Amino acid sequence: MHSTRVAAVRVERRRDGAFADTPTPRLSWTVESSTPGWLQAAAEVRLDGADGVTVRLDTAESVFVDWPFAPLRPHARHTVEARVTGVDGVTSPWSDPVEVRSVFLADGEWRAAFVGLAEPSGAACPGLVRTEFDVAGPIASALLYTTAHGVYQVAVNGVDVDDAVLKPGWTSYQYRIEHDAVDVTGLLTAGRNAIGIRFAGGWWTEEYGFYGHARRVYGDQPAVAAQLHVTYADGTSEVVATGPDWRGAAAGPLVSSGIYAGERIDARRAVPGWSEVGFDDSGWSAVSVADAGVVPEPAAAEPVRRTQEVPVREVITTPSGRTVLDFGQNLVGRLRLRVAGPAGQVVTVRHAEVLEHGELAVRPLRAARATDEFVLSGGEDVFEPEFTFHGFRYAEVTGWPGELVPEAVAAVVVGSDLRRTGRFECSNDLVNRLHENVVWGMRGNFVSIPTDCPQRDERLGWTGDIQVFSPAACTLFDADAFLAGWLRDVAAEQAANGGVCPFVVPHVLADGDRPAAAWGDAATVVPSVLFERFGDRRALGEQYPSMRAWVDAVLRLAGERLLWEGSFQFGDWLDPDAPPDQPGLAKVGSDIVAGAYLVRSTRLVADAAAELGHTADAARYGELAERVRQAWVREYTTADDRMVSDAQTAYALAIAFDLVDADAGAAMGDRLAELVRRAGFHIGTGFVGTPIIADALTSTGHADVAGRLLLQTGVPSWLYPVTMGATTIWERWDSMLPDGTINPGEMTSFNHYAFGAIADWLHRRLAGLAPAAPGYRRLRIAPVPVAGIDHASARQETPYGPAEAGWTAEAGRLRVRAVIPPNTTATVELLGAEPVDVGSGTHDWTIPDPRLRCTVRRCPRGESCRRFGGHHEVFWCTNTIAGVLRLG
Ligand code: BGC
Repeated sequence: MHSTRVAAVRVERRRDGAFADTPTPRLSWTVESSTPGWLQAAAEVRLDGADGVTVRLDTAESVFVDWPFAPLRPHARHTVEARVTGVDGVTSPWSDPVEVRSVFLADGEWRAAFVGLAEPSGAACPGLVRTEFDVAGPIASALLYTTAHGVYQVAVNGVDVDDAVLKPGWTSYQYRIEHDAVDVTGLLTAGRNAIGIRFAGGWWTEEYGFYGHARRVYGDQPAVAAQLHVTYADGTSEVVATGPDWRGAAAGPLVSSGIYAGERIDARRAVPGWSEVGFDDSGWSAVSVADAGVVPEPAAAEPVRRTQEVPVREVITTPSGRTVLDFGQNLVGRLRLRVAGPAGQVVTVRHAEVLEHGELAVRPLRAARATDEFVLSGGEDVFEPEFTFHGFRYAEVTGWPGELVPEAVAAVVVGSDLRRTGRFECSNDLVNRLHENVVWGMRGNFVSIPTDCPQRDERLGWTGDIQVFSPAACTLFDADAFLAGWLRDVAAEQAANGGVCPFVVPHVLADGDRPAAAWGDAATVVPSVLFERFGDRRALGEQYPSMRAWVDAVLRLAGERLLWEGSFQFGDWLDPDAPPDQPGLAKVGSDIVAGAYLVRSTRLVADAAAELGHTADAARYGELAERVRQAWVREYTTADDRMVSDAQTAYALAIAFDLVDADAGAAMGDRLAELVRRAGFHIGTGFVGTPIIADALTSTGHADVAGRLLLQTGVPSWLYPVTMGATTIWERWDSMLPDGTINPGEMTSFNHYAFGAIADWLHRRLAGLAPAAPGYRRLRIAPVPVAGIDHASARQETPYGPAEAGWTAEAGRLRVRAVIPPNTTATVELLGAEPVDVGSGTHDWTIPDPRLRCTVRRCPRGESCRRFGGHHEVFWCTNTIAGVLRLG
C-alpha cells in the first residue's frame, strides 16, 4: 500500500514561519510519497480549516503557487492547509495547518515617528526610550512593529520581545527601511503596561571609507520607531506609537558602540526596571522626534540571531605574556563572559582571526578597533556586546580579575538565521574541511547583508563577492528571501545612479558609484541564480528593470564596437600572481573579463525577458548578446583558438560562459588543461576565474585536471589554507604565507567567501546533484568521479523536498545512488551510458568505474569528438568512445 502525504506547507519565503509580507504570499508544499515517480495532478488548499474557503487547483506545480484566496488584510491571521492528488488518482490527507500572519500595514497606516535622544552625550550615542500605556480589556492579539535608524531591541514589561539581534539590519536606508513585526500578545497584561527600547548607532552612524577617509553616511544619532497594534476581544483596536510623549536618556550600561569599534559596557550604569511599569523617568528628557522619511516595509528575510555557542578550546599565554583564548574556529559574533571582580575594574577583549609570532594579529583589521571593554559592577556580571560583532578565532583578554577559567567565556556566533539546505561529504577529509570552511564563511558573511568580510573596517555588501558566490550560497542555505531583499537595495541604488550598480550595496563608498564588470553584474546574476535554484519567478520579475538597467548602462559604455574597453575594472581580482599591493594586476586582461560579463548579463536579461513574457525584449537582448559575443570573439581570440591573454581565467570564461563555438571550446579546454598542468596543477585564477575553472575543465573532458586542481595542497590552491589550519575561506590564496606570517598586503582577510564558490561544483559535479530546471523541478544527476576520491555525496533540501546524489567506488565498480523528490524528475547521466530519465524515489546503479578504463580527455584524432560539440562531454578509452554525457 503506497502512501502520500503533504510533509510541509510553506508561506513564502522565510524559514521563521508564516509571516506574510505581502497580501498575496505564494504557497509551496513538499510531498512525501512511497509511490515511485509520484507527480502531482491537482491540489487543494484551504484557508481556516474545514469551515473556511477551499480552492481546487488544477496544477502540477507545488512550489511558489500564487495565493489563491482573497488578498490578506493587514493584521490578519489565518491558517492554510493543503492536500494533493497524484497522477495515480490518489488524494493525500490534509496537511497540518500552518499559520499565516500578515505583517504588512495598510497604506498610510505607519504613523510611528522616529524618536531619539534630545540630549545625546556625543555622536552615535546609545540610549534608552520608554513609554507606558493602558490595555483597556481582554486582548485578542497584539503585534508590535518596530524599526530603527540604528540597531535596537525592544522589551515589553521588562521582557525582550524576541531573540533576534542587530535589528532591523542594514538596508539602503535612504530608499528602503525594514520593520520587524512580533507577536507580543503574551507579554501584555490588563491595565498598565510599559515598552522600552534600547538602541545604538549600528550601521546607521558607522563611518565608511578607508585610510583615514571614513565618514558618516546616514546620520549622527540613532533613533527608533515602534507601533503596537492591540486588537481587543470585542474587535476594537488601539495603536500605541513612538511620538513626542516618549521619554529618553543616554543611560544604561552601554556607554559606546560601533560596528567596527566594538562596545564599552559599564555594568555600574544598569538601570533596573527601566522598561517596566512604574519606573521613575522624571529625570529623563522628552525625546527628539523626526519624520520616518521613507515608510518602513516588512522585513524581507530571516533576522540575525545567535546561532551557536562555541566554548574556549585553549587558553594560551603568548610569548609576551598575554592571555589569548582560542575558540578553534574563525567565526563571527562576540564573547559572552561571566565575571566577578572589583567595581570599576575594566576587562578588555581584543579580537583577531589569526596569531602571528604567537601574538594576536590585529594588522589585518586595519582601522577596525574590534575591542570590547567591560566595566565590572562589583557583583557577578554577565557581559555580551549587543550591537556589534567581530570576526575572530582568538580573543585577547586583559584585566580579568583572578584566574580566567575557560568555562567563564563562550563565543556567541551571530548571523542571518537561514535554513541550511545543502550538505556534502566525500572520502577526502581536506576537501570536507574546505567545504565546512565555505559554510562558516557564509555564516559569518551573511549578517543582514552579504558582505565581503566580517572583521576589518569594511564588512560591506561588495557586489562582486556575492555575484561569484551566489550559486554556492543558494546551495548551502535557503538564501532566497535574504538575497531577494538585498536585491531590492541593488535596484534602489541603481535607480539613483543612472542604472549603474555600485561597488557596494548599500552604497556607502565615496568613489563606489562607477561601473565595474563582475561586480555590477550582481544585478543580473543574483536574480537569475534565485530563479535557477529556488524557482523564484517573482524575484526575477521584480528585479527585471534593474537587470536591464545595468546591461543598458554597460552597453552605452561599450558603444558601437560593443566592447567595454579601457575603463576602470577590478578584473580577475586577486589572481595569485598579482603582487600583494596590486590585487587587480591579473594575468587576464580586464577588458576580456568586462566583455565576457557583458555577453553573460545581456543573455541573462534576454532569458529573463523570455521567462517573464517580455517577448520583444527577449529578441532584442538575445540579438544584442550575440553581437557582443561576436565582437568579443573577434577581439580576444586568435585564429588557432587561443585567447589573447593566455591565462586560466581567459579560457575558463570562454568555455563556462559559452562564448565560443564547440570546436574552439574543445581546443580551449585543452589549452586550459595544459596551462593548469604547466602550473603544476596550481590554481592561477582570481575572483572571476575561480568559480568557473572546475566547470570549464569538466565540461571539456578534463575532469581529471579539475580533480588534480582540487586536491592540490601546495600554494596557491583551495586546500593549501586547509593544510595551514584554516577554518574559513581566505581572501587571498596566501593570506597566510607558508612560514606562518601574514601576507604583507594591507588587504588580508581570513574570512572572504569568494574563493569558496567551488563548493557549488562539489555538489553539482563531484557528487553530481544539480538543478536542471528552475527550483530543481528537474534534476541532473551526473557525478564526475576524480582520481584520489573514493566516494562523494550531496544532499539538498530542494524546494520539492530532500534530494540526494552520490557515488562510491568499490572493487572496480562505481555504485551511484540518487534520491529524487516527489513531483520532480531527473536526467541521469552516467559515464558510459546513455542518459535516462527517472522519477521520484530512490535509485541505485552500478557501473564499471570509468576511471579505471578511461582517460577523461579528448580523442587524439580530434575531428570525431568535436562532432559532439560544446554540449557533450566525451570520454575516451584509448580510441574508443566510452561514454557521451549530454550537458545542455
Ligand atoms: C573587498 C573585496 C572587494 C574588493 C573590490 C576589497 O576590499 O574586501 O572583497 O570585492 O575590495 O575591490
